[in-house]
Amino acid sequence: MKYVCSICGTTEDVATRNAKCDCGGLWKLDYKPPAFDLALVDRDTWSIFRYRAFMPLKGEQWREISLGEGMTPIVQFNKDVLLKMDYFMPTLSFKDRGAAVLITHCKAIGVDSVVQDSSGNAGNSVAAYCAKAGIDCEIFVPEGTSPKKVNMIKAHKAHVNIVPGSRDHCADVCRDKVANDGKYYANHVYNPFFYQGTKTYIYETYEQLHRIPAHIVIPLGNGTLVIGIVKALEELLESGVIEKMPQLIAVQSEHCDPFVKAVLVKAKRAAMNTTPQPTIAEGISIGVPMRSEEILQYIYKYDIKVITAPEDRILEARMTLAAKGVYCEHTTAANYAAYLKFCEMHGKIEDCLIPMCGAGLKSDH
Ligand SMILES: Cc1ncc(COP(=O)(O)O)c(C=O)c1O
Ligand SMILES: [Zn+2]
Repeated sequence: MKYVCSICGTTEDVATRNAKCDCGGLWKLDYKPPAFDLALVDRDTWSIFRYRAFMPLKGEQWREISLGEGMTPIVQFNKDVLLKMDYFMPTLSFKDRGAAVLITHCKAIGVDSVVQDSSGNAGNSVAAYCAKAGIDCEIFVPEGTSPKKVNMIKAHKAHVNIVPGSRDHCADVCRDKVANDGKYYANHVYNPFFYQGTKTYIYETYEQLHRIPAHIVIPLGNGTLVIGIVKALEELLESGVIEKMPQLIAVQSEHCDPFVKAVLVKAKRAAMNTTPQPTIAEGISIGVPMRSEEILQYIYKYDIKVITAPEDRILEARMTLAAKGVYCEHTTAANYAAYLKFCEMHGKIEDCLIPMCGAGLKSDH
């Protein structure tokens, strides 16, 4: 198993401390899991690591790092909609899937200190797993990040830097630190191990339902859930477990939609200069998505629909969900608002899985 540069094809040992290739390309992981088979799932492990047969992990570090992430229920919300309750997680968001695997990798290769930038949730996850693993952690978040998220990161004893300016600028500041101080970049966008964790969203869905729903809504900022979901679905397809790709529907913010714009002109990569307008969907407010080429390849190959969540209906969607007992954060309500808009535009869709990625208490501001 090696890293492969997504631009020049150079290979590198996965124990490298380099966040990317010398040519600037991001790493991909050259790893092919065995054919997916429920018989390989370790049903005595009550976390995402029950699927470790399909993860590129050597050693047993996961045992000391797992916080019991994953295994989130799927709830029948109404006749057509299933909700996967990914805010039932140790740090209350789906990012724990990726962070648990990434920090296990860090521990396995002897990393003792990391930095990470985030709109809040990924930083929360990395901070929590570093705390469990005994790894020092420094998190950069943009100004305006929900105070609840910042407090949680601090509670995990990570050092927090609140950076004035946009989410994208915050990433630049953190990446400068990586380049200048040689810090390990435990980042959900750059590090391919993160996607090996978000794959479990689909493994779990299959194990729980014994099938994959016809439609799957996925938030799309940097695309860590999109990439994990597509990778896992490809594995299920190749293994003959499912016969066709479900219809994937990716959700961007109306105020920050570089993928929507790229698809309109069939571009190979997103324009890397989108300046996000303020949005309450802070988690998908990414103007410079670093893996846009890879994600656009998936979008064209699998005819993924990319739509925007109507900004002025996010709070209404959040209240509709909450009035039925589901209290999610604003970015997550955007998924439901976008689903409703999609139905208005294209007619009602049945059998649709929507992720409840982040908990409501995180965005009470
Ligand atoms: C609650 C929530 N949903 C969706 C996303 C979007 O994830 P990504 O940027 O990986 O596409 C985030 C990212 O922080 C998030 O916190
Ligand atoms: Zn390269």
